[in-house]
Amino acid sequence: MDKEKRYAELLPQIAAVVEAERDMIANMANVSAMLQEEFHFWWTGFYRVVDDVLVLGPFQGPMACTRIARGKGVCGTSWMRDETIIVPDVHQFPGHIACSSASQSEIVVPIHDGAGHVIGVLDIDSEHLATFDEVDKKWLEKVVALLKGEKEEN
Ligand code: SME
Repeated sequence: MDKEKRYAELLPQIAAVVEAERDMIANMANVSAMLQEEFHFWWTGFYRVVDDVLVLGPFQGPMACTRIARGKGVCGTSWMRDETIIVPDVHQFPGHIACSSASQSEIVVPIHDGAGHVIGVLDIDSEHLATFDEVDKKWLEKVVALLKGEKEEN
């Protein structure tokens, strides 16, 4: 099955899980698990903006750096620029933070609250080069949009 179809089938399942729970951390935990179970990436997880720094949140995969400053690494850059960043080769990204030497490519998607502020990022790492493209961007932005808004209810 191509990944477009896999994302299309997974999205409503994620929506159902997220809609049934309003706690952000619980939802991030299940979203990371559901993405990981479907795609078996090297590392799938979240960083949350806490006191103006990204702090490690729920994830699937090996242990990772716990704090990332705004503008640092792919995650901090995605947060600062407020845009999804696709990195086909992490060794070519200036300032990339290597939590694991196995990681070769990466995508980072910012998550917004209802007011449009970045409240965290979804970070997915692959042990292969050039794993992520516009298809991943499109669907992962839909995934994080499901997390948007529910923070207001907390
Ligand atoms: N590579 C990321 C850091 C997070 S870990 O890969 C899980 C970055 O450069 O921001």
